[in-house]
Amino acid sequence: MPDHDTSDLFSPYQLGSLTLANRIVMAPLTRSRAGAGDVPTPLMAAYYAQRASAGLIISEASQISPQGKGYIQTPGIYSEAQVAGWRQVTAAVHDQGGKIVCQLWHVGRISHPDLQEDGALPVAPSAVKAVGQVFTGQGMVDMVTPRALTLEEIPGIIADYRQAARNAKAAGFDGVQIHAANGYLLDQFLRDKTNLRTDAYGGSIENRVRLLLEVTDALLEVWDKDRVGVRIAPLSPANDIADSDPEPLFTYVTRQLSARGIGFLDVVEGVTGGPRETGHRFQLATLRPLFKGTYIGNNGYSRELALATRAADHADLIAFGKLFIANPDLVERLRLDAPLNVPDQATFYGGDEHGYTDYSFLDGH
Ligand code: PHB
Repeated sequence: MPDHDTSDLFSPYQLGSLTLANRIVMAPLTRSRAGAGDVPTPLMAAYYAQRASAGLIISEASQISPQGKGYIQTPGIYSEAQVAGWRQVTAAVHDQGGKIVCQLWHVGRISHPDLQEDGALPVAPSAVKAVGQVFTGQGMVDMVTPRALTLEEIPGIIADYRQAARNAKAAGFDGVQIHAANGYLLDQFLRDKTNLRTDAYGGSIENRVRLLLEVTDALLEVWDKDRVGVRIAPLSPANDIADSDPEPLFTYVTRQLSARGIGFLDVVEGVTGGPRETGHRFQLATLRPLFKGTYIGNNGYSRELALATRAADHADLIAFGKLFIANPDLVERLRLDAPLNVPDQATFYGGDEHGYTDYSFLDGH
């Protein structure tokens, strides 16, 4: 008997009030194909609808405000036109029987004046420059030193998240995920490499985690608990992020999120888009029993590892990223152990339908 016949990976899963067709998640994937005004397009609706056999789709990261933008052509979730564009995406996914949540994003220091309104400096917990470059449309340019947010500005950031969560509801999403991973704004607050603040949002672990929890609480005013999730990447160095001691930090984060009863915690296991093993002594597996909601594992999963992870119950759901770019019918291919299309890196970001909606299905269309 093939191993999948005894696995629950391909069987329905109850995520709170949401019934998922299976335990396979499409991970959030930046594809930089939004239209003018960072509005989702009909082509994006077609792309997501093709992938609607995933038990759950987490949308590509979507900026909650113009200030939160860090890349060209990433979609927003703050303007009426963006909400209308997303409504077409969610309707197309729902028509195919899928479920989709919106990933809410503020990049913080991982931006550039060329991507900001009026050429403003990007904002961050502290004026600490990221080592790295950013693509602005004029090519790759060095990051700049961001401006530290004032204490008085923080309620406005939380209000932007709250409004984005309301917009996601108006756009027909099934829930929201807070992007607190990969070195973007909320992760910058979490970590002592990027957060040098001396006010209530810096210093102790409790203070550094405060903004994430206040954002979570704001979303819980808008959405039922089971429809709110958080994504973290405790051991990833993405976007020049680091913490002197991630274990107590993310243990606290996980316990606090669990106490709030949020629906799902999505963990990038290892280096984002890279190796799962980091050599760090902190074992991410210790987080799983601390969280009472749905635990999503992500990063570098193969079919075999996904089956083994379910067999050992090390995660409730398994998220696949790059494999979903190249395989719209990934669930069916995994179930049948069929060959997989290979993702083409050159078409990950920007461009048209090539490398986006033209990857073949098993039946050849
Ligand atoms: C990316 O564009 O590669 C990217 C975007 C958002 C992430 C991680 C990676 O959280």
